[in-house]
Amino acid sequence: MTEERGPRIVLGVCGGIAAYKAVEVCRLLVDAGAHVVPVLTKEATRFVGALTFSALASEPAQASLWDEDTPIPHTRLGQSADLILVVPATAHLMARYAAGLADDLLTATLLATRAPVLLCPAMHTEMWEHASVRENQATLERRGVGIVPPAVGHLAGGDTGAGRLADPQEIASRALAVAARGGSPAAARDLAGQHVVVSAGGTREALDPVRYLTNRSSGKQGHALAEAAARRGAEVKLVTASGLALPADVQPAVTRIDVESAADMETALHALSEWADIVIMAAAVADFRPKVAATRKLSKEDGLPELVLEPTPDILQGLVAGRHPGQVLVGFAAETNDVAERGRAKLRRKGVDLLVVNDVSAPGAGFDHDTNAVTIFGADGSTGEIALTSKDAVAHAVLDRVIAHQRQNRSSK
Ligand code: PMT
Repeated sequence: MTEERGPRIVLGVCGGIAAYKAVEVCRLLVDAGAHVVPVLTKEATRFVGALTFSALASEPAQASLWDEDTPIPHTRLGQSADLILVVPATAHLMARYAAGLADDLLTATLLATRAPVLLCPAMHTEMWEHASVRENQATLERRGVGIVPPAVGHLAGGDTGAGRLADPQEIASRALAVAARGGSPAAARDLAGQHVVVSAGGTREALDPVRYLTNRSSGKQGHALAEAAARRGAEVKLVTASGLALPADVQPAVTRIDVESAADMETALHALSEWADIVIMAAAVADFRPKVAATRKLSKEDGLPELVLEPTPDILQGLVAGRHPGQVLVGFAAETNDVAERGRAKLRRKGVDLLVVNDVSAPGAGFDHDTNAVTIFGADGSTGEIALTSKDAVAHAVLDRVIAHQRQNRSSK
């Protein structure tokens, strides 16, 4: 047993092929100074032996609710944990946890804790996208459970698709950040002291005083980013063309600047650029606007109006041109095909550090949904795919990537 120094993390492991990667997560956490207590489901032990975890972790692995040496082990585990991390979380575990079942040591521990809980799901695409799993995830997130969304890639049995366990290094970093600060998993506060500017919503370009051109953006993804950054300790300025409200508890950390047109958004963002350590452009800025907006309401009696359009300013391009050293710029893009090729080309064209591409052809992704599926391209050549998940989980995954980018930049200096 190792001497207890860092956060105490209960590492739950479920029965899925990705259980072997939980071994790596265990090692990374222990190396980082955490006190790791593995709790395996019966099914997990079919994939990886308890002995493997016992050898690497800070305490022997446990798998039984009926361990006679330690009465009521779930309450001891739950009460003493700084974090419960489940790697991989199967559809079965998510369903049992959402339903409040406590039929083994892991589910009983999950119910017997007030510590933050972080689930790292991994399963086949069909299961991950099944309505019951989507609903269970939404239920758990509503209760404050954090989700590290799965990636897209090779799955068991030779399949490829959404549902692959997130990268073990990313899981360990997120877990350590959450465990260090306590509170809700969203409250890792690893952005404390940073100034974050987020743009959101679809701009409205006036035709006349009562009509405008716009797009389908609801502002949900941008608002989720502003909320996530605030929960993680950042001071946030949200430049939004959306009427969505922010949750009351994050409002003190978010200054909201409501705008309507691309021109308003450009003025607001340029004024904030100097202040910002991180700028995230999730807004769907109109590419064109009426060259002239009528000053009075156009009426049928005037005949059919002639619509002459002109391009709007490329706000992101202006931000890139005026960026200050160390500032991280993140762009978004909505694509339907050749996501990798188009994403990399746009990343280079826009000159941003990270480009988050929504695959809006995927059901449930992109405009106006509560969920999204994205690929994050880095200027360093990195690519990370986030399978369909809540916009909140996407927001946290994007912020994780921003923090990793900052860390990488610091270490290369
Ligand atoms: O709001 P939701 O309903 O939740 O939907 C979220 C979303 C799909 C709108 C969001 O996730 C998203 O993808 N936003 C970017 C939409 C887009 O297609 O952007 P683009 O490819 O036109 O532009 C690329 C980047 O340049 C974006 O960061 C955009 O903000 C920026 N841009 C675009 C045009 C312009 N004139 N100025 C800009 O700065």
